[in-house]
Formats: sequence, structure tokens, C-alpha cells
Amino acid sequence: MSHFDILCASGDNLRIPVTKLLHTSRSPYQEITVCDTSQFGRCLLLDDVIQTAESDHELYDRAVLHKLRLSDRKLLILGGGDGDVAAQALVINPELHVTVVELDGAVVAAARDHLGQTVFENSRVELIVEDAFTFLPRVGSAAFDGIICDLTDFPVGYDQEQGAEFYSRIFSASSATLKWGGWIAVYAGATDLMLDGGGRVVDRLRGLLSESFGKVECTEGFVPSFGEPCCYLYGER
Ligand SMILES: C[S@@+](CC[C@H](N)C(=O)[O-])C[C@H]1O[C@@H](n2cnc3c(N)ncnc32)[C@H](O)[C@@H]1O
Repeated sequence: MSHFDILCASGDNLRIPVTKLLHTSRSPYQEITVCDTSQFGRCLLLDDVIQTAESDHELYDRAVLHKLRLSDRKLLILGGGDGDVAAQALVINPELHVTVVELDGAVVAAARDHLGQTVFENSRVELIVEDAFTFLPRVGSAAFDGIICDLTDFPVGYDQEQGAEFYSRIFSASSATLKWGGWIAVYAGATDLMLDGGGRVVDRLRGLLSESFGKVECTEGFVPSFGEPCCYLYGER
């Protein structure tokens, strides 16, 4: 592997030279790659799409954790098998208990073996290897202070149409399982990421989020290794 490409909605794609390939494998869900680059340090890619980079993942982690309060005690992360958001959450609020629901145990193993991720050994973190879609409806009410959707641009196993059903269900089940005053944060992908049928992904997600949460906000941020501005959505119960 000599390089990977960061595909941008604007069409101004970036070609990133790889200095060392550390890991490549195919799980039942996706192709997992870990490689070194001089531009972004060590990177994790899933199906050739960059997920996290050593040089700037903290920008992303802090954006999805924007609503985290020091009074919060229980945080749920859907996806997030690389462990970076869970680790940063505990830096911000060491009193938290964090539940991570990640579909693909192979992502967790790759992060442990090649990214030096140790957060899943922390007794404050519980890892559940399961599809977020099946996990959430089983959770009781008032179980979490905050929920983060740290998922791939399109959740694994769902095409765009099913993706709408996925998020609709996730948002309504999240609202039911959050404490009163609880919050949800959703990574909504590149600002100009489009749906096949037209319209921006972030607008579609915002509409779905509004069906379950009264107060919805959207912010934009730039993480250099994502190649272009990305959106984050927040809802409050
Ligand atoms: C590695 S994190 C990082 C996401 C980061 N926001 C990005 O796209 O650049 C994304 C994780 O979501 C997980 N994931 C995707 N669909 C999922 C689902 N339906 N349930 C639980 N986890 C899922 C993937 O396996 C992956 O490990």
C-alpha cells in the first residue's frame, strides 16, 4: 500500500502517502487498515475511509463530546471501537462510566494492537460488541446522561434508505433511554456529503433528530485528516 485517498464531497480529493503499512484484515463487516503517514501520523481506515488519525483525532473527539458535563455519570457511545472518544471522555470527566456498543470486535482489537489503545481495560468502560440498532431498544428509561453516535458515515450493514430507518430508530430509542435534560451528539459526516437521491446527509439527519428531540443544534468543524469541514448534530431532551 503506497497511499490512500481521502475522498471529498467537493471533488478536491487528497492523496496521502503511506510510510508503513502496519495491519490489514477483513472482518465479517469491513476491511480494517492501520498505517503510518508523515502527514497525519498513525491512521485507522475502514473500507478505505479514514476514521481516526494520531495527529488530529482530539479535534473530532472534543467536538462529539461538546455537550459532556462534569455532573454527567453515564455515557453511551454507539460505534467508537477505536476507543478515542471514550478515552477523551474520561479525560474530561474522570467520574464517568462509559458504555461502548461497537458492532465489530476486530476494530477494537486493531486499535489495541496497533494504536496502543488501552481504554477498554479501564474498569470505568464497558464494551458491548453488538449492533447499536438491536442494543438500544432493550435499554431501560433514564439510563444515560449522554449518548454519542460515533459511527461510520453510513452504519455498517445499512444502505442509505435503511440508514434513515436506522437513525430514526436510534434517535427515538435514545430519547427514551436518556435522563431528563440528557443530550445526544451525532457525527453527521462531511458538510456537503449528499444522499443518492439528492439533499445533504446532515439535513436528513437533522430532520430525523428533530422528530425525537425538541432542541437540535448543528455545528461545523474542520479535522484536517477528514479533508473537508464536517458537521456535528446535538439534541437535548
Ligand atoms: C471507528 S468509529 C469512528 C467514526 C468516525 N466518526 C469517522 O467516521 O471517521 C466508527 C465505528 O462505528 C462502528 N459501527 C458502524 N455501524 C455500526 C452499528 N450499526 N452498530 C455499532 N457500531 C457500528 C464501526 O464498526 C466503526 O468501528
